[in-house]
Amino acid sequence: METVVSGIRSTGNLHLGNYYGAIQNFVKMQHEYNCYFFIADLHSLTTHPTPDNLHSNVKSVLIEYLAAGIDPDKATIYVQSDVPEVAELYLYLNMNAYLGELERSTSFKDKVRAHPDNVNAGLLTYPVLMAADILIHRATKVPVGKDQEQHLEMARTFGNRFNRLYKHEYFPEPYAFNFSNNLVKIPGLDGKGKMGKSEGEGNAIFLSDTPEAIRKKVMRAVTDSGPTVENQQKPEEIQNLFDLMKVVSTPDTIAHFDNLYNTMQIRYGDLKKQLAEDMVNATAPIRERINDIAANADYLRKVASQGAEKARESASKTIKEVREIIGFRDF
Ligand code: TYM
Repeated sequence: METVVSGIRSTGNLHLGNYYGAIQNFVKMQHEYNCYFFIADLHSLTTHPTPDNLHSNVKSVLIEYLAAGIDPDKATIYVQSDVPEVAELYLYLNMNAYLGELERSTSFKDKVRAHPDNVNAGLLTYPVLMAADILIHRATKVPVGKDQEQHLEMARTFGNRFNRLYKHEYFPEPYAFNFSNNLVKIPGLDGKGKMGKSEGEGNAIFLSDTPEAIRKKVMRAVTDSGPTVENQQKPEEIQNLFDLMKVVSTPDTIAHFDNLYNTMQIRYGDLKKQLAEDMVNATAPIRERINDIAANADYLRKVASQGAEKARESASKTIKEVREIIGFRDF
């Protein structure tokens, strides 16, 4: 059975981008593959969270994983920092990762631009830690959104380089995965670019948002003044609303609003109302489970410790073999 690995950083509540880009696939894959889904708390240290913040964010991602339908009896769910073998593999892979290629990574360049005051080494070697997450279980499939494609390419580079250096076909090649064969990028509500936790207030719809909060955010989404005879091409902010509909609304609803747009009869208020209701309904089953799961501290503790144990079993096997391949003391 093929092995699957994926993770989400513990930097806040999960949003529709995380859900449709990643978690929806986690839930489906757990029935067919040997799955490891983790909470990337080591990755979140690049932005220096306080201990309290880190603690509550790790817990909320775990709660939302479970509420979204990841089943701890089917998939191994764990917190990255509970598996120190990951940090060990990260060290070995770092010896073979080069400054030039790390500096060229798009996500590194974006982070430098956004936070020129905090360009730490962890940020630079972020793709190496991500490769370690994947290679530690020798996974081949990695369900992620489109924004992670380059990181996957780097994970393959680091794995292959290790294999070549030690003349050993040890790590298989991991590939980004989505059931539809198309990695997705869920747009935000601000009219430009993707939905994200740090893209500004009101841009993201969180799985834990109340129906009122969802309606308010959607009604405030950026629109233009409507199609005209000269210009019937949808501008980015309108295309984004239609793209959001593609994930939460029925094909009939989309066709209906498409038709209104094409015949220049569209009223954006109606489109937004429909989109908000479809989002409220799509997230309802998750939202309803969040509070119950959050109230059960014993269950959360049990899931995290059982997951850590299972993940360490697989990770320590890899580390033992890697140590042998590298040639550490065996006497
Ligand atoms: P992170 O925490 O930024 O996002 C978690 C997952 O959600 C997806 N995602 C999106 N997909 C579509 N549209 C969006 N707007 C959107 N926003 C987020 C991301 O693609 C991702 O799949 N580096 C990773 C975490 C990580 C990881 C790993 C993933 C660390 N180690 C090993 C896979 C394997 C990250 O920052 O994701």
